[in-house]
Amino acid sequence: MPNGPTPEEISKRRTFAIISHPDAGKTTLTEKLLLFGGAIQLAGTVKGRKAARHATSDWMALEQQRGISVTSSVMQFPYDGRMVNLLDTPGHEDFSEDTYRTLTAVDSALMVIDCAKGVEERTIKLMEVTRLRATPIMTFINKLDREGREPMELLDEIEKVLKISCAPITWPIGMGRDLQGIYHLIEDRIYIYQAGEKGRAGTHATIDKLDSDAATEFLGARAQTFRDEVELVRGAAPEFDTKEYLAARQTPVFFGSAINNFGVTELLGSFVRHAPGPQPRETTGRIVEPMEEKLSGFVFKIQANMDPGHRDRIAFMRICSGKYSRGMRLFHVRLGKEMRINDALTFLAADRQHTDEAFAGDILGLHNHGTINIGDTFTEGESLMFTGIPNFAPEMFRRVVLRDPLRMKALQKGLDQLCEEGATQVFRPLRNNDLILGAVGQLQFDVVAFRLQDEYSVQASFDNVNVFTARWVYGKDAKKLDEFRTKAYENLALDHSGALVYLAPTRVNLQLTLERWPDLDFRETREHL
Ligand code: G4P
Repeated sequence: MPNGPTPEEISKRRTFAIISHPDAGKTTLTEKLLLFGGAIQLAGTVKGRKAARHATSDWMALEQQRGISVTSSVMQFPYDGRMVNLLDTPGHEDFSEDTYRTLTAVDSALMVIDCAKGVEERTIKLMEVTRLRATPIMTFINKLDREGREPMELLDEIEKVLKISCAPITWPIGMGRDLQGIYHLIEDRIYIYQAGEKGRAGTHATIDKLDSDAATEFLGARAQTFRDEVELVRGAAPEFDTKEYLAARQTPVFFGSAINNFGVTELLGSFVRHAPGPQPRETTGRIVEPMEEKLSGFVFKIQANMDPGHRDRIAFMRICSGKYSRGMRLFHVRLGKEMRINDALTFLAADRQHTDEAFAGDILGLHNHGTINIGDTFTEGESLMFTGIPNFAPEMFRRVVLRDPLRMKALQKGLDQLCEEGATQVFRPLRNNDLILGAVGQLQFDVVAFRLQDEYSVQASFDNVNVFTARWVYGKDAKKLDEFRTKAYENLALDHSGALVYLAPTRVNLQLTLERWPDLDFRETREHL
């Protein structure tokens, strides 16, 4: 068998994530996509799985207590001749780091909007992130079975607030109790809504042609006004243009109700047809094309103890080019070392399983024994590194207080692993043995405390600490750097990877330090390099 990748295998990959404000319906839509993709048999399974996991892992209990979703996973399923990779992202804002990194691993995104609420704050933030890489976006306006805002008004809001032009593909016929169906503007077909329709894909009846007698009869009293409305929409909104969509300047818009399986097949069909396959990616040296023969990829996420029975840690690697086959050797660029990979995982049908091959666009799960960090690049020997994997500046700091000093080793181990995952950042001051944690939100500290207890049997609490912000210190002049190390010793620390960090107690102190050391570079984040 030839070793190189097959172009068809690569071009049929569709790797994407769903972005939305909490409660808009991301979980429900995910479940319906998996259902229609044949990845799961019955609706309710995603939530059912959640519940099953809760039962086996106490750490998930935190999720349950808080009513939030903090884990994320990868699901793969075939649909209409394509291979879809859906990367789930945690919904809570304290976990946005994880979400942002996941968005660097996709080729497109699906935005879910609640028809009653319109564009919400979290959607705005996520759109900003997708914009950094000009990620193409499809839009699903959900919960049509409830009273919502005027469709035109929703499109106006998306255009104004998110600064992207909207091309409606389907258009609602009524809303809430008055919902009759959706009209497909391109197919010229009505999809009839039946409340509580829980069937599989394609069970909704259709009527061809809006100007047919059947349509007149179906629409009844609203026939004329609806036809006028459609004419208005066609006149006012741009037509769907694949080029504009792929350039992230236009978003095709679909209406529906995820919970009622309504409008989802139309969305999925369009998605696999139009969404981009694997895209070229930037590295430190050159642009990597997906069709290149040699494999390359980067790690965007590490998750520990996914399966409490195994206590394993999985590094999620996005394959950017080439093909993986079981047993191949991969070059870990940062360490300059080769590794033989026998047991990589893929995520077909929402279940982890060992795989023999995977292609650019796919996500591989690599067992991690502490040698893989977020941002690491793997190749077949070339020394290049993928860029643009964000690492966020911590905004909150706490000192770890260990209840039982004999558990120090376990604490260190736990913190090292949580750091690797990007769940928190650890700073070790040069002047003492304190352990200072940095996070972007309060919830992160709660999760760290919970997991230290649950997974490492370490009871820890957190004290306030006099740190306002952290800056990673870089300098070309070794003498200057040494001088700084001596003069600023009191406020210096090492991070998880051993990089030098200045912990400024106040804003003024930071300002003065920046002025006093103009030859040094104070960065808000550590580069994943
Ligand atoms: P999220 O992942 O974006 O946070 O949203 P999720 O799917 O959990 O949906 C949030 C709530 O909205 C859920 O109700 C869900 O059932 C409901 N929902 C999703 N899609 C639709 C829809 O098309 N129509 C209507 N009317 N509701 C929808 P919940 O009461 O919070 O949870 P549950 O008890 O139903 O599980």
